Amino acid sequence: MKMRKTHFVCQNCGYENPRWLGRCPNCGEWNTLIEEQISVQEKSHRIHSDSVRVSPRRLSELSPENFSRESTGIGELDRVLGGGIVPGSLLLLGGEPGIGKSTLLLQVCNHLVQKGRRVLYVSGEESAEQVRLRAERLGSITSELFVLCTVELGDVIGAIDQIKPGFLVVDSIQTLVNSLLSSAPGSVAQVRECTSELLWLAKNNRLTIFIIGHVTKFGAIAGPKTLEHMVDAVLYFEGEPALNYRIVRTVKNRYGPTNEIGVFEMTETGLVEVPNPSEFFLSGRRPDVSGSAVVVTLEGSRPMLVEIQALAAPTPFPLPQRIATGFDLRRLALLLGVLERRANISAGKKDIFLNIAGGLKLSEPAVDLGVIVALASAIRNVHLPPDTVMIGEVGLAGEVRSITRTETRLKEAARLGFKRALVPLESPKMNKSKLKVVSVDTVGAALKVLGLKK
Ligand code: TYD
Ligand code: MG
Repeated sequence: MKMRKTHFVCQNCGYENPRWLGRCPNCGEWNTLIEEQISVQEKSHRIHSDSVRVSPRRLSELSPENFSRESTGIGELDRVLGGGIVPGSLLLLGGEPGIGKSTLLLQVCNHLVQKGRRVLYVSGEESAEQVRLRAERLGSITSELFVLCTVELGDVIGAIDQIKPGFLVVDSIQTLVNSLLSSAPGSVAQVRECTSELLWLAKNNRLTIFIIGHVTKFGAIAGPKTLEHMVDAVLYFEGEPALNYRIVRTVKNRYGPTNEIGVFEMTETGLVEVPNPSEFFLSGRRPDVSGSAVVVTLEGSRPMLVEIQALAAPTPFPLPQRIATGFDLRRLALLLGVLERRANISAGKKDIFLNIAGGLKLSEPAVDLGVIVALASAIRNVHLPPDTVMIGEVGLAGEVRSITRTETRLKEAARLGFKRALVPLESPKMNKSKLKVVSVDTVGAALKVLGLKK
């Protein structure tokens, strides 16, 4: 009898091994290797074969108009894409279930249909009626939007032939199957095969395809990670499910900058853009309470003002706690150490809590100064001047180190009506009439300026 050939594929990164392993040697994840059949047809078929034969062309013969971008109708999304969609591109939108991927792309579809484009929305997760219900909820029903509910890649290719859309949404790649393959829907083999087929369709028909991909916190299903190298751009939807704001971040973009973010708010009637996130993240601030400092962080090219909140509370227990939300705990410990040794402000036997307001996660060193000042303010229980922003990295010697793009940050602070900014010593000199720029060389100097230290 012929042995059935199988191999084990890591569902997180796509690593292949002939035997089962408890831990993937490539990505280090546990229990992600799943047995899959090696299909003989896997490599041999191509569903579309009536393509034109392509031949190489001179770069000078190509017209750049072909790459003129098209607006999605949502400014924040255009922004993360680098100014709009490049026709014929394959885009991946990843995110946890329920974060709003389907909602966002249905809104884009609505807009494109209104502009007279032919759009096909393929859903393998919801029935056509459910898609309609959602569209109704989003306010505008566009009768010209084509909806196809299927999980078969063949059906999708057929529908493209029939309708000839210029824009296609696949919701989601985990539900799509190529029935010529024997592996289960959502497995790495299926996800990869379907994506490569979609890539081929996009490039040959100048069809823009948006693929939705689910990721879980534990990477339990075939993560869109395995597809990142195949697609033109990868966007990730982030956000705390409990909070209403959502962030779309570019992780990869062949036609634009990466790490750019777009901010949205989830409302009753779909996602609404937040064009001024600084105002959004500072709303609800209580500047008259100790432990609140404002920093300017950069997300991609966008400066954003964010509130850092610190709380120091006495504890009856012998071992005080250090808890950080949205900030690295080890960095918090380091900054507390610097505060104690270099500025003589000790957290002592107090619990220390640090929170980045709005549920954001900050990892940029430029927020160090703001964090350390918020901690000092909380420990001393003295509130900070409400109209001052803090920018700068803090080193182990207690020195305030220079950071990038100071000017962009200062402009944003001035725009929001802040009167004073503490910056590192070797920052470019900038004299904004409305914003007083104070250079500080050490944490101690900063605390003196703020009145927390004599
Ligand atoms: P959805 O787009 O279905 O998420 P995904 O496709 O990423 O799984 O969004 C689902 C959530 O969004 C759900 O919890 C309900 C909420 N929602 C609103 O708050 N307002 C709306 O107008 C819509 C359509 C959804
Ligand atoms: Mg969905």
